[in-house]
Amino acid sequence: MGMPVEEAMQQVQTMDRNVLLDARNVTMQFGGLIAVNDVSLQVHSGEIVGLIGPNGAGKTTFFNCLTGLYKPTFGMVTFDGKPLPPKPRMVVREGMARTFQNIRLFHNMTAIENVMVGMYSRTKTNAIDAVFRLPRHRREEIASTRRAQELLEFVGLTGVGDTLSRNLPYGDQRRLEIARALATEPKLLLLDEPTAGMNPQETRQAEELIFKIRDLGLAVLVIEHDMRFIFNLCDRVSCLVRGAVLVEGPGDVVQNDPRVIEAYIGSPAAPPAATTDPLNGGVADA
Ligand SMILES: Nc1ncnc2c1ncn2[C@@H]1O[C@H](COP(=O)(O)OP(=O)(O)O)[C@@H](O)[C@H]1O
Ligand SMILES: [Mg+2]
Repeated sequence: MGMPVEEAMQQVQTMDRNVLLDARNVTMQFGGLIAVNDVSLQVHSGEIVGLIGPNGAGKTTFFNCLTGLYKPTFGMVTFDGKPLPPKPRMVVREGMARTFQNIRLFHNMTAIENVMVGMYSRTKTNAIDAVFRLPRHRREEIASTRRAQELLEFVGLTGVGDTLSRNLPYGDQRRLEIARALATEPKLLLLDEPTAGMNPQETRQAEELIFKIRDLGLAVLVIEHDMRFIFNLCDRVSCLVRGAVLVEGPGDVVQNDPRVIEAYIGSPAAPPAATTDPLNGGVADA
């Protein structure tokens, strides 16, 4: 016999109590292409979860399904116990913020203005209006500016508040995007390839920053290709291949799973190329 019913129920309740994001059987189809295929993923509060997988595996599409950019073809997403609202702006207000694989900043605004856009995206005020407020709002503006400055410092951007975001080095733009996301006061932060294009030192700093964000009490869901980065950082990792979850579990388990290694570097047992291989022997020399 299994465990008593009460005990089992209690265990389920304890497990589910801290579930912040609950994506169940999410499928996203574009015409005939199934970009995300029946993916389920949970993120608990205070947890850092990694999402890995080869290019085209569906990671970004899955993020888009979680943040109101796409409406999944099938499946169900709840955040903080409620069904996900249908628009990105509403998702932000519920407490989920993200960054993009291709950085999306307001390039002609300064760093601090970009962060302030994040702060105002929670309210009904038009974000752009809010940045260029009238003098009567001055006092509020001073408080907002101070808060934005703190966020810039938190992500390691000191002294660049007045720099136009397009003039910042690439790594700093990535950090600025994180500061803007944090300005929306999220419970869960989604990062799409936060270290893409970074050098090893910047990557280490990004890792420290994500730990610092978790220490503030936020949960983090991060897509990344850098395996060392992911397995250092994450409590749990899910590996997507061709839209579906291949392996999910604690970092050290996923890291050593031969299927994951194969997904990245190809089958180690691949036979050597035969003479009939069209790339080697099938075509007459020109
Ligand atoms: N808006 C879209 N319309 C059609 N196909 C898309 C769209 N977005 C993504 N795809 C396709 O879905 C698949 C998964 O893409 P993506 O989610 O960007 O992968 P990843 O982020 O894992 O590299 C790819 O084949 C991509 O071409
Ligand atoms: Mg992607």
